[in-house]
Amino acid sequence: MTTKKTRRSQAWYGKLDRDGFIHRSWMKNQGYPDHAFDGRPIIGICNTWSELTPCNSGLRALAEVVKRGVWEAGGFPVEFPVMSLGETQMKPTAMLFRNLLAMDVEESIRAYGIDGVVLLGGCDKTTPGQLMGAASVDLPTIVVSSGPMLNGKWQGQDIGSGTDVWKFSESVRAGEMTLQDFMAAESGMSRSAGVCMTMGTASTMASLVEAMGLCLPTNAALPAVDARRAALAHLTGKRIVEMVEEDLCLSRVLTKASLENAILANAAVGGSTNAVVHLLAIAGRAEIDLSLKDFEIGGDIPLLVNCMPSGKYLMEDFCYAGGMPVVLKELAGHLRPANTVLGKDISVYSDGAQCFNSDVIRSFDAPLKPAAGLRVLRGNLAPDGAIIKPSAASDHLLDHEGPAYVFESIEDLKANIDRPDLPVDENTVLVLKGCGPRGYPGMPEVGNMPIPRCLVEKGVRDMVRVSDARMSGTAFGTVVLHVAPEANAGGPLALVKTGDLIRLNAKDGVLELKVSDAELEARRQNWAPEAPHYSRGYAKLYIDHVMQADRGADLDFLVGKDTRPVTRESH
Ligand code: FES
Ligand code: MG
Repeated sequence: MTTKKTRRSQAWYGKLDRDGFIHRSWMKNQGYPDHAFDGRPIIGICNTWSELTPCNSGLRALAEVVKRGVWEAGGFPVEFPVMSLGETQMKPTAMLFRNLLAMDVEESIRAYGIDGVVLLGGCDKTTPGQLMGAASVDLPTIVVSSGPMLNGKWQGQDIGSGTDVWKFSESVRAGEMTLQDFMAAESGMSRSAGVCMTMGTASTMASLVEAMGLCLPTNAALPAVDARRAALAHLTGKRIVEMVEEDLCLSRVLTKASLENAILANAAVGGSTNAVVHLLAIAGRAEIDLSLKDFEIGGDIPLLVNCMPSGKYLMEDFCYAGGMPVVLKELAGHLRPANTVLGKDISVYSDGAQCFNSDVIRSFDAPLKPAAGLRVLRGNLAPDGAIIKPSAASDHLLDHEGPAYVFESIEDLKANIDRPDLPVDENTVLVLKGCGPRGYPGMPEVGNMPIPRCLVEKGVRDMVRVSDARMSGTAFGTVVLHVAPEANAGGPLALVKTGDLIRLNAKDGVLELKVSDAELEARRQNWAPEAPHYSRGYAKLYIDHVMQADRGADLDFLVGKDTRPVTRESH
């Protein structure tokens, strides 16, 4: 039990000297009374609210509610902003900045006199970026997520964030939907505060945070605008104060076992492929040995949650059906014993769980798909691994061999994908280079390349696609992603030529380029890396230090943590 004497914040606010005067006096300009500094837990509320991150637009109000709970429990809440990453607004990709957010979070937590932290995030990169930064400092930490938007509605139908954008845009290209209708769907798709209401990366990460016991139960699925989310935020404010009293720091909750539970849950919810890079990066910060191989434990878990993009419903439906507590109850026989922010085993997260719609949340005995977890692929085309999400793929393509058609860059793809004479058919394997962490840079969500127009017009809706990119958690298709090493790091992907045969077997985890070693070596002699796209600033730092996808695409010097007290004063 931490006492007031040893509490971290006392090294700032408990000093009866010039430094203590400075720390307290300037804080008092906000109207705080003396007793706010009497040794009570000081709780940082780390907020990624921003008008440029519309998915997190509800977090400003939610922070105020967290504060109520902190005051009620006898703590002192202090909100601070960190960089916010608007997935749909940032170029070249929000992922380029995930590690920068993580640095901001880490250094903010460490430099300020706080005892515990509440992470307010939601949009795709904000949750992992915040957890990465927090893990490198290791204070008591708890998450409150933005929560999903209300279901999209348009022309009498439910439409899902992202997933229906990809569908609609293919329909426009096939001449089956007018551009006017396409534009009209915009306003119906995003009609409340909150994150994408498909099981995209945001709701995936929120679901995994719940499976890891890093938030209070039901946090993942409650809609952003549901009053019960505010109540949960209030309770979270109370709980973080107790966590400080119990010295329940992040490393006592975030463990190998909880990460394994996240992998199992990711399979059951049909979660985003992006969870792989994020969990690997979080594990790296927490000094937990997690590798792509560990993701194979999810392979046999069936798909239980019938949400887009793997199924048909949306997050509101998932919430009303019972949400993550029901999923965790179904997974009970598989989950590892693991501590949570409640200081109790994860099994208590499904206490009293009841499924209210068995089509939305299936049981283990009647799943949407059997053995739905992500598959790790290996072979001479991806010596350090690649991944595919079978639940969002076409069954008939999961064992496939076909000739490659290569796009050397994203510009090459954009310029040529709609050419009427593109020499491709439905057996072609589309290959895209230059979209990895270092190459793009930032590993954007372009791996789900559009189907060439000449094939869309013939009714083709899926093809095998291979790249060093990621894809949106809301996307679908038979898409091989995260090929490592990436082309720009000299991976074999760089050597693929149009016409080469590529073999994919998802079940056996195989991704082979059927070209002889001698021929590949000859091609390598003629290969030279492309000049980096940025030469200064953070992007240069990123390109120089980013690790490959199989290491979570974190910066090499950010791996691990530093939990030493900060001793030196500023004046
Ligand atoms: Fe922010 Fe989907 S774009 S959550
Ligand atoms: Mg995304």
